[in-house]
Amino acid sequence: MAATEKLDKVMEKLVSLAKRRGFVFQSSEIYGGLGSVWDYGPLGVELKKNIKERWWRSMVHEREDIEGLDAAILMDPKVWEASGHVSGFTDPLIDCKQCKHRFRADDPRLKGTPGAPDSQCPVCGNKGTLTVARQFNLMFKTFMGPVEDSAAVIYLRPETAQGIYVNYLNVLQASRQKIPFGVAQIGKAFRNEITPGNFTFRTREFEQMEMQFFVKPGADGEWFEFWKAERMKWVRGLGVRAEKLRFHQHGPGELAHYAKDAYDIEYEFPFGWNEFEGIHNRTDFDLSRHQAASGKKLDYLEQATNERFIPYVVETSAGADRTTLVVLADAYREEEVEGETRVVLKLLPSLAPLKAAVFPLVNKDGMPELARTIFDDLRKTYNVFYDDGGSIGRRYRRQDEAGTPFGITIDGQSTQDQTVTVRDRDTLRQERIAAAQLVGYLAAQLKG
Ligand code: GAP
Repeated sequence: MAATEKLDKVMEKLVSLAKRRGFVFQSSEIYGGLGSVWDYGPLGVELKKNIKERWWRSMVHEREDIEGLDAAILMDPKVWEASGHVSGFTDPLIDCKQCKHRFRADDPRLKGTPGAPDSQCPVCGNKGTLTVARQFNLMFKTFMGPVEDSAAVIYLRPETAQGIYVNYLNVLQASRQKIPFGVAQIGKAFRNEITPGNFTFRTREFEQMEMQFFVKPGADGEWFEFWKAERMKWVRGLGVRAEKLRFHQHGPGELAHYAKDAYDIEYEFPFGWNEFEGIHNRTDFDLSRHQAASGKKLDYLEQATNERFIPYVVETSAGADRTTLVVLADAYREEEVEGETRVVLKLLPSLAPLKAAVFPLVNKDGMPELARTIFDDLRKTYNVFYDDGGSIGRRYRRQDEAGTPFGITIDGQSTQDQTVTVRDRDTLRQERIAAAQLVGYLAAQLKG
C-alpha cells in the first residue's frame, strides 16, 4: 500500500470516529454538507471548550501582565484597509474557463503554463483552458444596513488580532497596565479558503486563540524568544507527543505582510507536518498603520524614561480547531487488548469531554439505584455519563472511543459495602474504592 493511501486511511478513521462518537459533524449534512465548514457535537464541544479554557487560564488568569478581551466580529472596514488585508490578504488563483474549477497557483496537479495553450486542467483534462494566476481576496464580504451598495460593504474578520489593536489604548487605560503587557482573545475568524480540506484543518469558519504582547521597540527579540518557548511548553502540556512537534521558521518568501520574524509550531498530522500555531514579530506595523489611518495617537509614554514610542507586538496565534485536531489525532490509538483491537482516545484526563462513566453491572438487585445516586452526586462536579446499555465490555469500549479516562462500575459487592471499581482507560487496571471517595479520587487524577 502506498504511504499516502495508508495515511489517508488514518484520517478516514479519525473522521469516522469523530462522527460516530459525536465529536465533529459536517455542517448542513442533510443537504449534502457545506464545503469545509464543520459542527462540533456533544463531545467535540466539550473537548474544544476544555482546550480554550486551558488557554485562557494560562494566558489571562495565571499572568498579571495579560488582560482578556472579546471584540466583535464586525469592524469598521477601514480597519481592514489599514491592516493591509484588503490589498494583501490574497491567494493567487487559476480558473479553468471550461469546467469553472478554481485552483491555487501552487496546486501540484496543474500542468503546463497557465494562460498558455499547453496548460491542462487536472479536473476536465482540457488543454489551453487555464487562466493566468489572479489575486483572490480571502475575506468574506457582507453588507451592513438596508442598502446593498459598496458603501455598506463590511468584512467578516479573517483574524481576531485587529480587534485587539484597535482596543489597545482602551485596555491599557482601563486596566492600568504598563508596557510590556498583553491582550488575549478567543473568537471566530473567517476565510474564504479556496483549497480547504483535511477535515477541520483548513476551514472557512474557525476559532482563533490570539494574544498580542505590546513591548518597547528593541525588547521585541527577547520577548519573541520568550513566547516561542512558552507556547511550545503549553502545547506539550496538552499531552501531545514531543516527537510529533517541531518549530518551522518562516523564510523571506513565507512571511506575512506584517511580520519581521515568524515561527510556526507544527504537528505531524497523518497528512504530513503542518502548522497549528504561529508566533509572530509584527513590529509596530499594525499600530502605526492604524494611527495613520484613524488619526488617533496610539503611542505610549514610558513614565520612567519620558520616552514616547509605538509599541512593537509579539503575537501568539493559535487555532482552537486545529489545536483540537492535533489533540484528537495525537490521542487516537488502536491497541490489541485480550485478542481484540480496541480504538482508544488517550486524551489528557483534564481535556477529556467526559471525566467518567458510571455503569451498573446489571440492571437489577439495587445496582441501578446505587449507580444513579453516585452519578447524580458526581455530575455536580464533573461531566460524567451514565450507561446501562449492553455488556460491560461494550460499554467500556464505547467510552474508550470517547476518551473517557475512568469507568466506574457498580456491582453486587457495591450494594453491600458501598465500594465501586474504577477502571483506568489507559492501563486497564481496576481499583476498588469507597463510593464516598469518588469526587476526591477524580480530583486527584484530573490535575494537570
Ligand atoms: N493573527 C495572525 C494569524 O491569523 P495565521 O497564521 O494566518 O496568523 C493563525 O493563523 C492560526 O489560525 C493558524 O496557525 C491556524 O491554527 C488557524 N487558522 C488559520 N487559518 C485557518 C483555517 N482556514 N482553518 C482553520 N484554522 C485556521
